[in-house]
Amino acid sequence: MVRHFLRDDDLTAAEQREVLELALAFRKNRYLHRPFDGPQAVAVLFDKPSTRTRVSFSAGVAELGGYPLVLDAGSSQMGRGESVADTARVLGRQVSAIAWRTFGQDRVEEMARHAGVPVVNALTDDFHPCQILADLAAVADARGGVDALAGLTLAYVGDGANNMAHSYLLGGALAGMHVRVGAPEDYFPSEAIVLDAKRLAAQRGGSVTVTTDHDDAMRGADVIATDTWVSMGDEAESGERTGHFDSYQVNAHSLEIAAAGAQVLHCLPAYRGKEITADVIDGPQSIVWLEAEYRLHAQKALLTWLAARAGQDA
Ligand code: CP
Ligand code: NVA
Repeated sequence: MVRHFLRDDDLTAAEQREVLELALAFRKNRYLHRPFDGPQAVAVLFDKPSTRTRVSFSAGVAELGGYPLVLDAGSSQMGRGESVADTARVLGRQVSAIAWRTFGQDRVEEMARHAGVPVVNALTDDFHPCQILADLAAVADARGGVDALAGLTLAYVGDGANNMAHSYLLGGALAGMHVRVGAPEDYFPSEAIVLDAKRLAAQRGGSVTVTTDHDDAMRGADVIATDTWVSMGDEAESGERTGHFDSYQVNAHSLEIAAAGAQVLHCLPAYRGKEITADVIDGPQSIVWLEAEYRLHAQKALLTWLAARAGQDA
């Protein structure tokens, strides 16, 4: 069966571990596997802006021996209303995998139903699972290996209802972490996703906590994460959001109450002075550049893993 990666828990815990191990191996040897030798094309579609995702999928597919076919979906016929299903049927006959950044999760699900090749969520309103693979791989690398992840406490503060919060909940729980989300009550994560994360955490010896209190989320945390307070698609709400998240800023106080040497993550782009202060993101505990580099290695690992699965059916 062709496998897709539309949300973090589309991989089992054991499969997530395989992908993370492979990501660390790709960092040591960029040309470890070349599943798209040919070159075979991989479509990378964007309905929202991107720097890291665009670059890392483009460079990554090339390093895997393939041809990255990068399209702004709005300038394709999709922008004129061609259906997701018809687009999927056409792409699936010509490319070996599809990565798509779009709005609704239902859109990547529809693509996956009709493409016949692996479909990867390159960010939706609900999830950013490729980013969490990169984040977990970066933390693992900085701590000596994937075994280090289980049992760590990861605190995410800020907009608890966005794609990053949801993906930390699922991906962190799968990795056996204690995941804490600190957010205003109006911006709590989806209840359904919290329930899914709690179930995964229970199986893996981790836990899930959602709180309105920055300090309760942050106290003793081994890994600290935040994200923009205004995600792509939320721009119209930026007025009403202003001021709502101030007490969730990651700053020197956050580091003081977190575990000594806690690592700081931010998926980027960052807004210094808003969700994170410059001294923290540019300080010694920040691993954001390693995290950004891992977008490349983690997505290469994921695509290699998915291609091997798709190949088994051929
Ligand atoms: N973190 C991330 O996905 O960055 P881009 O929006 O630049 O792709
Ligand atoms: N939550 C952010 C992530 C950007 C990579 C957004 O969706 O805009």
